[in-house]
Amino acid sequence: MEATIESRIGLKELADKVVSADQAAALISNGDVVGMSGFTRAGDAKVVPMALVERAKTEKFKIDVYTGASLGPEVDQFLAQAGVIRKRGPFQGDKGIRTLINNGEILFADMHLSHGAEQFRQEIFGPMKYAILEAAAITADGYLIPTTSVGNNPIIADVAENIIIELNISHPESLIGIHDIYVPEKQGERQAIPLTNASDRIGEKGIKIDPSKIKAIVISQEPDAPSLIVPPDEETQTMANYLLDFFSSEIKAGRLTKTLAPIQSGVGSVANAVLDGFADSEFEHLQVFSEVLQDAVFNLIDAGKVDFASATSITLSEELGKRVYENLDQYADKLVLRPQEISNHPEVIRRLGLISINTALEADIYGNVNSTHVSGSKMMNGIGGSGDFARNARLGIFVTKSYAKGGSISSIVPMVPHVDHTEHDVDVIVTEQGVADLRGLAPKERVPLIINNCAHPDFKEQLWEYYNSAVEATGNAQTPHILNRAFEMYDLLEKTGSMKK
Ligand code: COA
Repeated sequence: MEATIESRIGLKELADKVVSADQAAALISNGDVVGMSGFTRAGDAKVVPMALVERAKTEKFKIDVYTGASLGPEVDQFLAQAGVIRKRGPFQGDKGIRTLINNGEILFADMHLSHGAEQFRQEIFGPMKYAILEAAAITADGYLIPTTSVGNNPIIADVAENIIIELNISHPESLIGIHDIYVPEKQGERQAIPLTNASDRIGEKGIKIDPSKIKAIVISQEPDAPSLIVPPDEETQTMANYLLDFFSSEIKAGRLTKTLAPIQSGVGSVANAVLDGFADSEFEHLQVFSEVLQDAVFNLIDAGKVDFASATSITLSEELGKRVYENLDQYADKLVLRPQEISNHPEVIRRLGLISINTALEADIYGNVNSTHVSGSKMMNGIGGSGDFARNARLGIFVTKSYAKGGSISSIVPMVPHVDHTEHDVDVIVTEQGVADLRGLAPKERVPLIINNCAHPDFKEQLWEYYNSAVEATGNAQTPHILNRAFEMYDLLEKTGSMKK
């Protein structure tokens, strides 16, 4: 193991910085703003957070934690439950921290994932005292090589006063060369991002660091927590088929070709299943330009459907993770990991003309989408990158099953109780019932498409009754609503456990 550690610390002046996780954790003080690596459970620091959990057993202290996106259980479950986190941003996806956020014990800043880097640059969250960054290596020429995600690591390494490195020697050395680190200048002094193709490499192999900031290096062998996605079922397969038919009709209309356009697919089981559906499709030589690469992307690369995939993180199930990381060389020329500031950048998304597929919790009859707040109040995960993509993509598509919780909840409602994506950002809605193509339509033209094509049959009558009453009550206004009735399905749910009348 000694030889491996030595080969992973190329900057020899740092050799004496190797300490235990407890020693590194002792550097963090009460009240510190801490930036951590990690994006959707990939590439996150693990052993130093667990040492902080240990420390919290005998000492009361709190820190603010900002990352790329959601982390594994070490932070978003154990550190949160140890009472160490005062405030968290910009995304989470763990039941542990979610419960504490919804109990009011942890503050949560839910942000567009492309915005984090700009806000760190401007010290919106205060000066960042420490960064804790997982790395695969520190090269002799002074680059920090990230592991399975890049996320916000470059900007965190830049703005943090001090850096703790978790050198994870369990990651294969073949990760070196996968990353492409390009960091824009400050706003106002910035050039156009020179990326015109999903496969372009525009930056450097790693994050150039100031070695004097590195206060500790902790050796780790902890693997990433595997993703928790549920395999495709009949309904997600049906949704995939609707989506594929929709793409075929776009080809007939002359708006797309068989290679489609670079695809972004969001987090979660539904988005993964929908992407899986491409395996048996007519489409070929596809490119992926996304933030997270889930299992489906690697299955599509293996099937020869996807030629190239660009993202900021790789989040895989245990089984697929093993296969991919043991054979990473095979994917090296088909893969790039970029900072999330680039993977989610509106300028790049618009230039490449992405097809963006994200999951909604629910949509309303006019096309507004709620991705984050259950019944308007309780945080699920956060907006993540869905807003970066939906607003700027060529096609902003939202998928959701038409019902939730065994059929007691309709995912199509009169008015969403929280809006993440406005009617102006939502081009297409797909459920297992069908597709609503909302492009170019006025609000009242969207209603029949959304109710008839996307709502579950159990709720259609209720939705039509509301809409027709609203048309009458408002004298056929632009977007008819009856405000004291708009949330009556949620009232029913609270009182009876079901939205059904
Ligand atoms: N009302 C209440 N609960 C709902 C619901 C609704 N309308 N729709 C779904 N849910 C619940 C499900 O029952 C499930 O609950 P459980 O965890 O207790 O079983 C949970 O939400 C997740 O739903 P599921 O159907 O399993 O879908 P998913 O795993 O694909 O996740 C989102 C869906 C919306 C939560 C997820 O995609 C997300 O967080 N999106 C926002 C961030 C994003 O889009 N990022 C994309 C860029 S990467």
